[in-house]
Amino acid sequence: MQYSKDEIQSVLVSNATIQARLDELCAQINRDYKGRELLLVCILKGAVTVFADVLRRIEIPCSIDFMALSSYGSSSKSSGVVRILKDLDHGIEGKDVLVIEDIVDSGMSMKYLFENLETRSPASVKLLALLDKPSRRRVDLKADYVGFTIPDEFVVGYGLDFAEKYRNLPDVCILSPKVYE
Ligand code: IMP
Ligand code: MG
Repeated sequence: MQYSKDEIQSVLVSNATIQARLDELCAQINRDYKGRELLLVCILKGAVTVFADVLRRIEIPCSIDFMALSSYGSSSKSSGVVRILKDLDHGIEGKDVLVIEDIVDSGMSMKYLFENLETRSPASVKLLALLDKPSRRRVDLKADYVGFTIPDEFVVGYGLDFAEKYRNLPDVCILSPKVYE
């Protein structure tokens, strides 16, 4: 895809690279959960793309559910306030849950979510994050499955947005600072 230089500074992770990495990660997940059943939880909206790509690679019995948390609004900096906008449709008691998130930045959203999910007595809860920005971490949080560790750049595409735009781009791209400055 041809991107406008005014909006997109560069491609950080191409779609082909993402697909190859998901092959590896999902092979690992299929091994780790062999003989069990998985509940895959998609964190709306940013994770929809990676969620659909992961789902198609899961070879063990699974079901899906969706959750939405408050995040950035239209700025590129985290407010630190986390709220559940849409909860799961079903209980998770006794279930093996794999949460699928687009990116872990400060870690506050996932820290809050995991503390909340633990109170519902699941058999296990793990986190798959397509992207990880460890240099921005403000709380102690580690994803169990990480696609790519990236530098402190604001990225869009492959589900990730800036002010609800750019989710449709096939690649993970660095947003031109001109867009938000
Ligand atoms: P955290 O609570 O600071 O870890 O924020 C995580 C959420 O912020 C993610 O689910 C994204 O929605 C959003 N976010 C963080 N960094 C970026 C980015 O570089 N591009 C787009 N969204 C981001
Ligand atoms: Mg998100």
